[in-house]
Amino acid sequence: MKYNFDKQIDRTNTSSVKYDLRELIFGQEDVLPMWVADMDFETPDFIRDAVKTRADHAIYGYTFRGESYYQSIIDWFNARYKWKIEKDSIVFSPGIVPAVNMAVLALTNPGDRIIVQPPVYFPFFTAVSNHNRELVHNQLINQDGNYSMDFELLEQQAKDARMLILCNPHNPVGRAWRRDELEKLAAICLRNNLLVISDEIHADLVLPGYKHTPFASVHPDLKASTLTMHAASKTFNLAGLATSAIIIEEETLRNQFKQFVAFLHVDMGNLFGAVATETAFNEGAEWLTEMLDYVHENIVFFADSLAEKLPRLKVYKPEATYMVWLDFSLFGLNDEELKDKIIKEAGLGLNAGIDFGPGGSQFMRINLACPRQTVELAVSKIYQAFSNL
Ligand SMILES: Cc1ncc(COP(=O)(O)O)c(C=O)c1O
Repeated sequence: MKYNFDKQIDRTNTSSVKYDLRELIFGQEDVLPMWVADMDFETPDFIRDAVKTRADHAIYGYTFRGESYYQSIIDWFNARYKWKIEKDSIVFSPGIVPAVNMAVLALTNPGDRIIVQPPVYFPFFTAVSNHNRELVHNQLINQDGNYSMDFELLEQQAKDARMLILCNPHNPVGRAWRRDELEKLAAICLRNNLLVISDEIHADLVLPGYKHTPFASVHPDLKASTLTMHAASKTFNLAGLATSAIIIEEETLRNQFKQFVAFLHVDMGNLFGAVATETAFNEGAEWLTEMLDYVHENIVFFADSLAEKLPRLKVYKPEATYMVWLDFSLFGLNDEELKDKIIKEAGLGLNAGIDFGPGGSQFMRINLACPRQTVELAVSKIYQAFSNL
């Protein structure tokens, strides 16, 4: 390996949400933080170098994103997903969560029904309910740890809904939706004129043996109804740079969204985010392969160790993302008891499954984008807290 993912980096006192807000989030400072979705790996050296070079120019005034920025995104999609997009289809947003909120406000009306597929990334819920739209739960089906979409229920719900927010790949259950599943979904959406937000922030984090399919690429008619949301932020550990790209291929839909972004004056963007994104997509393929191999080994080590030591804990190995979904239901604890045990006895800062909505009760989500030593520590902490139950 060219890159060293074993390196431990002290992130305390860097205004890190994951490390420096532990007391606020978990009520105590001494939990091992394995929650929010950023990585404990160094942002790759070639990205830091590019940012430093730009930082060395003494003026950080207003900037725009040039041709080479757009080309890097076009090339990345083409090389990785064989998805050909045009420069004009790319719209800036400071983040995916802001973009989901802006899309809801720009493209739907108060009272409109918007479908989400829990257990799912929880900011989707507030992006609907905070704006007085009606949240419709199309809960995923969990069959012994294998998650699938409930197409039958969706067919009914789609009849009087305006929009679907898809998580592709899915956080937290780790599914990299297959092409045939997305085609089935597309057919329902097209038949019922549903707008689709496809949040593809985890697209590049598909693990060995699996594949990412952009939802908008599975049927030509989806161009007029799909907003694909992507960023280099999860992939290359750049979340603090607040830069993402929203792909909207059809002009009318794109202009509606673009006007809303301009109306809020959030289209200027972040100078360093643009430099980092372009460098990441131009130079990052090798680093990404190594990082995913390392994370994959973390996941295998974590799952195998716990399967042996604590077989009552069901560890769902993800197909994508560095998040692992943990089913504690066989321990017979309610959500409050489980949370308490994880924080106070195991000394871990994880995301409670219940926060991801229906289907999340008695689960926890753990972030394994960290050095192996941290994963080993997490295994022993979980074992110590739960082996006596
Ligand atoms: C599915 C999903 N969407 C969006 C985000 C966050 O996006 P942003 O930081 O660009 O708002 C996350 C972060 O965990 C995520 O998991």
